[in-house]
Amino acid sequence: DFFLLGPLAFGLLLSLQIVASTKLVCYITNWAQYRPGAGKFTPDNVDPFLCTHVIFTLATITKDNQLTTVEWNDVEMYQSLNRLKNVNPALKTLLSVGGWVNGVSPFIEMVSKPENREKFIASALSFLRTHEFDGMDLAWEFPGHNGSPPQDKQRFTALINELKEAMAKEAVDTKKTPLLLSAKVAPLKSTVDIAYNVSAIASQLDFLSIMTYDYHGHWESVTGHNSPLYPSSIDKGTHLLHNIDASVTYWLEQGAPADKLLMTFPTFGRTFHLTTSAQGLGVPTNGPAEAGPYTRDAGFWSYYEICSFISDGTVGWIEEQKVPYAARGQSWVGFDNQESFTAKAQWLTVKDLGGVSVWTLDFDDFGGTFCSEGDYPLVNHLRNSLGFPPKPTTTKAPTTTPDPITSFCVGRPDGLYPNPTDETTYFQCFRGNTYLHKCQPGLIYQDSCKCCNWP
Ligand SMILES: *[C@@H]1O[C@H](CO)[C@@H](O)[C@H](O)[C@H]1NC(C)=O
Repeated sequence: DFFLLGPLAFGLLLSLQIVASTKLVCYITNWAQYRPGAGKFTPDNVDPFLCTHVIFTLATITKDNQLTTVEWNDVEMYQSLNRLKNVNPALKTLLSVGGWVNGVSPFIEMVSKPENREKFIASALSFLRTHEFDGMDLAWEFPGHNGSPPQDKQRFTALINELKEAMAKEAVDTKKTPLLLSAKVAPLKSTVDIAYNVSAIASQLDFLSIMTYDYHGHWESVTGHNSPLYPSSIDKGTHLLHNIDASVTYWLEQGAPADKLLMTFPTFGRTFHLTTSAQGLGVPTNGPAEAGPYTRDAGFWSYYEICSFISDGTVGWIEEQKVPYAARGQSWVGFDNQESFTAKAQWLTVKDLGGVSVWTLDFDDFGGTFCSEGDYPLVNHLRNSLGFPPKPTTTKAPTTTPDPITSFCVGRPDGLYPNPTDETTYFQCFRGNTYLHKCQPGLIYQDSCKCCNWP
């Protein structure tokens, strides 16, 4: 009889943050590992105390309806992400599933027959448990669109109902905490109407992230903002709905409970190539600005790429939409900064939404190397704007202090170590920081099994 460390140990951190119910859900992507230099991002760059949930994007679905990896090293990355829960036991991780196979969503074939769904659900539950995720995020863009037939609206509802039922049963059978189920959903009314039975899916999902970005971009012929809070005075017709206020209001009207709705805060901006000397909102464009040096895909720039761009550009504020833009030469970008995050955080607090999601951690200045605003300047600012308590920085070992506990891990590799002065506790070292955990009452730490055991 022994108790494994980690989730089962109820380890007591020196300082453990508990956030009541507001969610701060952060997406990471498995392709960000391929960016050059300081842009390279892996789960090792995730701050375990920054977000309440981290969602690993992306897994996909095989031809025979099994949940599966995408990148060659996904399993290794799952492990390094899920190890963070030893450092912050309150952190939840989810695996996002979606993607494209030959330009078509693999969801279409999977949801088409009850037996396909059943096979997928069984494979998904086993895959998530094997890799120690706490749940799954559905990223289907979108039922009833891009080659998906109109019946997929109801089939998506069926999938969610069946998944939720299977997750509840699995939790009872295995005596584990039920897996979480979330979805990334469309922001525009025209898409929502075709894709979702809103009240049916929202009643089953644990939370829904409305993708409140990509409202405007280089596919249009004039400048417009990626993620405005409100319409601008130049918007007409359906463009009046291309803003966060319109999207969230519509989801609420359709019966989504506010406390399950998350709005997405983008840590990137959308770019345009200007065709005249005019640099404001609604001025002529023809396509995207040049690709960013790190993200290398024309049409958007990460926040850290924008930091470099604005160091000698003009930054403007679109007051009616509560968001900034920047222009230099023939390039224009509508983006988000700490000021717009503050305005959006205030707005969602008034609406009593369940929280926020962030797309993505890897677009923020995660290493603090570009913007001179510290690590994760946007997401840390968002945490503060939402009223989260400060992160437990007190456990960080200051290099100047001789305190034997806080400095225990200085120079030691990551891992678990006995506490020489108290066998009922043990140390965990993570990136040079020291965390003190306590075994359950009656147990002592044994280094041979790296676990708490009966004496
Ligand atoms: C939405 O789902 C509910 C519950 O499953 C069902 O009763 C209702 O008929 C559905 N509405 C539409 C328009 O399909």
